[in-house]
Amino acid sequence: MKLNIIPVKWADEGVLMLDQRLLPTEEKWLTLRTYNDVASGIKDMVVRGAPAIGVSAAYGVALAAKSFVGTNVDDLAEELEYASEVLAKTRPTAVNLFWAIDRMKRTFERGRSEGKSVSEIKQLLLDDAKAIHDEDIEAQRLIAKYGGELLENDSTVLTHCNAGALATGGVWGTALGVIRGAVDQGKAVAVIADETRPYLQGARLTAWELMEDDIPVTLITDNMSGHIMKKGGVQAVVVGSDRIAANGDVANKIGTYMVAVLAHRHGIPFYVAAPLSTVDMNCQTGDDIPIEERDRTEVTHVKDNQLAPDGVGVSNYAFDVTPNELVTAIITEKGVARAPYTESLRKQFEQTTKAPA
Ligand code: MRU
Repeated sequence: MKLNIIPVKWADEGVLMLDQRLLPTEEKWLTLRTYNDVASGIKDMVVRGAPAIGVSAAYGVALAAKSFVGTNVDDLAEELEYASEVLAKTRPTAVNLFWAIDRMKRTFERGRSEGKSVSEIKQLLLDDAKAIHDEDIEAQRLIAKYGGELLENDSTVLTHCNAGALATGGVWGTALGVIRGAVDQGKAVAVIADETRPYLQGARLTAWELMEDDIPVTLITDNMSGHIMKKGGVQAVVVGSDRIAANGDVANKIGTYMVAVLAHRHGIPFYVAAPLSTVDMNCQTGDDIPIEERDRTEVTHVKDNQLAPDGVGVSNYAFDVTPNELVTAIITEKGVARAPYTESLRKQFEQTTKAPA
């Protein structure tokens, strides 16, 4: 394994993003010089995946601070408030976006209450954005370790969408982190990647990044998983999440719920891997999670090729919610949480023990 995919980076010129819309056929980096550019990058899916969106938003706030001209801290507060609103309006489901913006707000308030100058606060914000990025990579490393221990040697794991390095701060990923963790522990693991219509994150991104790390991957269309599970071809399902409610209901890419129902039908463990920044204790159940609806052309077209008749009615829900009773375990950087999740997730938030190396 190369373990070297990092989709978002901070540089002197701005935020660098690997343009995920072009993968796997082109590897092109964009330089985003303003917070508005970062917001567009998130909205237009240059970067996607809940933790990667959070890291990008934190850098977006740092960029807004960097380009502020002036010496009055209250004026900077106003500018950051506006930038945060623009960034928050990009994608509604991934809670990491709001989590990162809130944390940056708290960092600003800490600087202001300590009487720091505008330039000192700018540095504080950049340092915290970088810390959010580093902590995310470290969380994925621990998820890989804990989750890898759950997978069996010589097993085949099915995953949906892309919950890999590309979808996070980088290196491991969440669901793909669990798979990388098992491989790192010396286990032979093969992956079945759902193509994940309509945006094809599985075909374009998961297949690409697993091949980069020499992990065997077989691509299937979304409607093949039941047939393969019935034949005994899947030993575990591992997915990521965009937002987990306090009771363990899991929002993830559209189609995840169908996979969970199938896994349950066939007695296959269904694991969810996500950092605690994806767990929203303010959502009591999955019913409280806002579900993004996206443009109709994602369904009627593949890239520029029209598939469906003009004017056909279209639904394009980007996410669905898997009820907690279908979830075998939730793997976070604090360990493996099992039902009842209201209790186990709360305990993980309370746990402050130092993470193992
Ligand atoms: O619409 P996307 O590509 O941003 O959706 C991504 C997913 O659904 C991922 O599974 C989720 O964000 C977890 S990423 C570690």
